[in-house]
Amino acid sequence: MSGATTVALPPDIRTGSALTTHGLSFQHGREVTLTYPDLHLPAGAQLTITGPSGTGKTTLLHLLAGLLRPTTGEVRFGPTLVSAPQEGLREAFRRTQVGYVFQDFHLMPGLSALENVELGLRVAGTAQPHAKAKAALERLDLGKRLHHAPHQLSTGERQRVALARAVAHSPGLLLVDEPTAHLDRSRAGAALDLLCETADQLGATLIVVTHDPLVAGAFAQRIELGELGLGDKQ
Ligand SMILES: Nc1ncnc2c1ncn2[C@@H]1O[C@H](COP(=O)(O)OP(=O)(O)OP(=O)(O)O)[C@@H](O)[C@H]1O
Ligand SMILES: [Mg+2]
Repeated sequence: MSGATTVALPPDIRTGSALTTHGLSFQHGREVTLTYPDLHLPAGAQLTITGPSGTGKTTLLHLLAGLLRPTTGEVRFGPTLVSAPQEGLREAFRRTQVGYVFQDFHLMPGLSALENVELGLRVAGTAQPHAKAKAALERLDLGKRLHHAPHQLSTGERQRVALARAVAHSPGLLLVDEPTAHLDRSRAGAALDLLCETADQLGATLIVVTHDPLVAGAFAQRIELGELGLGDKQ
């Protein structure tokens, strides 16, 4: 890559952890090497990542979540070396610190909204998973949809279940891939407000990948991959 760029955000008074990356690259097979600018995000920062298809936005989220290990460089979240070689460490980090909203939500089709969120809490080892799952769904205005299966919910409702699942264990790092891809304009605005407010309430760092100018424009801080030599695909 041609020179790393540092994205520094204003310091934040809320508690939480700073997210930093240094010299990050990831090689997919033999042909594709993705390189990324260095990030220095204070706790509670809100950032959007944009860029053309294939420039490595989803791969970056996976690296920040500890789902993938970088080919070079490192990722740190507070005291945790997220890019650590030990899968056990990365797995514990994901389970306890990361809320990840996948583009297609990844809800379990055979489970109700409540059971989907509860399962995530059980996996995270959180106390009182049932009560906390219910509270997370109620906070997102899904109190009347607790026992509906994903196929009985609208797209926007499924998205809110996915968000409830991602935030119910109070993660410090909330990673969201294309939150408005399936939504109309008014629902997209509502989804965005919900994400930012939820992250604010948690004091969590929020990173949102998007193609949507509405989403990108709503964030003061943004990095763009694939242009200006950032995130080059070699
Ligand atoms: N499993 C894989 N094996 C090989 N190459 C891959 C794999 N996953 C991704 N890539 C390559 O890495 C590039 C970046 O993929 P990534 O999914 O991170 O892009 P993206 O910016 O999220 O794209 P989109 O906007 O379409 O979601 C892709 O163009 C593809 O060439
Ligand atoms: Mg993607």
